[in-house]
Amino acid sequence: MADNITAHSRRQFMQFLAASPLFSALGGISFAEAASQAIATPADAIDIFDLEATAGQIIPTAHWGYLSTGVDADATLRANRTAFEKYLVRSHRLVDPPVVDTSVEILGRKWPTPIIIAPVGSQKAFHADGEIAVARAAKARNHLQLLSTVTSTAIEDVAEAREEPIWFQLYTMGGWHGVRSRLRRAEAVGCPVVVLTVDLSGGTASRHTLARVARQDTRDCGVCHSGDGPAARTKPMLVGADSGEEMHLTWDFLDQLQQETSMKVFVKGIVTAEDAERCLEHGVDGIIVSNHGGRGDESGRGAIDSLAEVAAAVQGRTTLIMDSGIRRGTDIFKALALGADAIMVGRPYIWGLGSFGQAGVERALEILTNELQIAMRAFGTPSIADIGINNITIR
Ligand code: FNR
Repeated sequence: MADNITAHSRRQFMQFLAASPLFSALGGISFAEAASQAIATPADAIDIFDLEATAGQIIPTAHWGYLSTGVDADATLRANRTAFEKYLVRSHRLVDPPVVDTSVEILGRKWPTPIIIAPVGSQKAFHADGEIAVARAAKARNHLQLLSTVTSTAIEDVAEAREEPIWFQLYTMGGWHGVRSRLRRAEAVGCPVVVLTVDLSGGTASRHTLARVARQDTRDCGVCHSGDGPAARTKPMLVGADSGEEMHLTWDFLDQLQQETSMKVFVKGIVTAEDAERCLEHGVDGIIVSNHGGRGDESGRGAIDSLAEVAAAVQGRTTLIMDSGIRRGTDIFKALALGADAIMVGRPYIWGLGSFGQAGVERALEILTNELQIAMRAFGTPSIADIGINNITIR
């Protein structure tokens, strides 16, 4: 009942905002995005934003706050969207490919699209099937899945559901004891890559939107989050993580991590050319340009701007992946044109998960793939390799 009330007031609030001429100025959201609607079946989703509207009515209010929040005034979160508007596509004519080939190769493995499932923690907070539903969707549509350290499902179970090696994202809770235990488990299920996330090192991200939205949740959170509640148990990859040893994410730590594991090491959260250069000096196997979907620091800088800088410096010397703010096929196209080898999405597939479980995740991935295909046809690029810097200009 309380949920219905909060969902109803949120809907009213969104309708009020959508009707306001201030809407795009306030949120940097286009009319098309403001007009998105909750839908009854996955097939009804016209774009990703219909899944967002639907998930917004289903996911419990406090969990919705956790999903949607940025930090401070959410400036980085907004910039992740608005920055895309600076990059304009240069279309090539008289190509008109009858079909386009969206496949890419990442570390020698071919994938049907460059769309990767980003690590998002606590997925059972969005749907009871959580990470297992996402793994099944990844399997059904053949996408690479990155699993978070704060997964609500053990890596062994996710890997079994995916039936193919996933990548593992590393946080350092519990010091070396916790890190080693996680590395061994990831290695044991055959993960070829561990991704070290480096953009939360302050550890005190001020997620004000989360705090405000959570306050509107009238349910007693203690029912789930303490005692014997379903969310009370320690996260399965954090077993033994309360050792108290404090870790500092430094370049030395990165070197030690590379010594510690047989997996390839990617670094997630790089946003400048000089740090990318340093990653290369330290022999990383790949770089993920990301600002954690605007949840790490309040730089106010869109991730696509960081990608432009990093890609120009890296010049193809390592595998380059980008995330934060991708919502459309044209966003993917722009990231690839600037030099990314692949992209990741976080919230878009979680909107699908929250709306319809596995079927919603599949629909989110299908929408983005279809939009990328349409963009590639329209812009005259038959394959991913045809997409390059001459497909883009800056406003
Ligand atoms: C995240 N992200 C994240 N990243 C990470 O390395 N480990 C994690 O556990 C999480 N958890 C997490 C939870 C939630 C609710 C969100 C929204 C995001 C960041 C994620 O991997 C990715 O960088 C962003 O989500 C990409 O931005 P978009 O696509 O959400 O705009």
